[in-house]
Amino acid sequence: MLLEELGDLRQLAKRELDALNGQEELDNWRIKYLGRKGKLTQVLRSVGSLPKDERSSVGKVSNEIKSELEKIFQEKKKSLDKKRYDDKIREKIDVSLPGDPVHQGKLHPSTRILRQIFSIFSPMGFQIFDGPEVETDFYNFELLNMPPHHPARDMWDTFYINEKILLRTHTSPGQIHAMKQFCPEPIRVILPGKCYRYEAITARSEIMFHQVEGLAVGKSITMTDLKGILIEFAHQMFGDARKTRFRCSYFPFTEPSVEMDIDCMVCRGEGCQICKQTGWLEILGAGMVHPQVLKNGGYDPGIFTGLAFGMGPERIAMLKYGIDDIRHFFSNDLRFLEQFG
Ligand code: DAH
Repeated sequence: MLLEELGDLRQLAKRELDALNGQEELDNWRIKYLGRKGKLTQVLRSVGSLPKDERSSVGKVSNEIKSELEKIFQEKKKSLDKKRYDDKIREKIDVSLPGDPVHQGKLHPSTRILRQIFSIFSPMGFQIFDGPEVETDFYNFELLNMPPHHPARDMWDTFYINEKILLRTHTSPGQIHAMKQFCPEPIRVILPGKCYRYEAITARSEIMFHQVEGLAVGKSITMTDLKGILIEFAHQMFGDARKTRFRCSYFPFTEPSVEMDIDCMVCRGEGCQICKQTGWLEILGAGMVHPQVLKNGGYDPGIFTGLAFGMGPERIAMLKYGIDDIRHFFSNDLRFLEQFG
């Protein structure tokens, strides 16, 4: 009777061991059959109390089963260890698996144009100069020749923080910072940065955008220098084939003031929707630094002259790439952004 049970136990143990697959299951199996409280150990312990004629045969069979189970346990352990090891190795060095694709970011179109602008002006000797985005009314307007109530202030709709502090509406106040820092040395700087305007957001105007200001101050700087620099810029940015023209304009901080146009690259001057039938596209504002502004920066306008210009990289990108809505730049739509670079 007991021998029969031992036979069943052996079968069951072997079947369970065969079926199991993990380290934890293996440990449980060992405890169940070979552990101190395991089934086989219990039988072996009870051998002493059996009738004499059963004792030797049961003892013998139990011992045989025990060593058989120990042996197959060791084998199973080995094969599980090997399987685990093989899995690990495969995981590490299967060079045939395709790699995870790395998503490559691209430069924002504004950044691309900004860098292009830097690389055009830098060989002409212009260094980058940074001014603050949060400005005083004094720097943003007064020192640029616009006292309180000056009608030209209407050209810039302004985010005021309080009566005296505002978000700069243009990069021009940076001219004053640069002059105050470098006076009485000559200057050649470009000032890139963000500007803010309290305007309705439309296809043509954003509340935040970039500008790049240029300023050169020295003892023999003339309007000819201004024109030469800007014509060279327009050709490098829009191509040698572009025609350029300067129109009279007005800014309180320059005298004389101009705006620069290139001929429309879409219709080549014929007149189309892009250039509103004029054949010309405005690309920037510029002029000779007003004597009062030179004075405000610490320079004697009797000795020094200066040239200045200001442009919007988003506007330049729009003209260059035929983008019809400035809102694309800051609405974070990858379908737009991924088209550049
Ligand atoms: N600050 C002007 C604007 O925001 C642009 C500008 C015009 C800058 C003429 C200049 C300049 O330095 O000389 O519209």
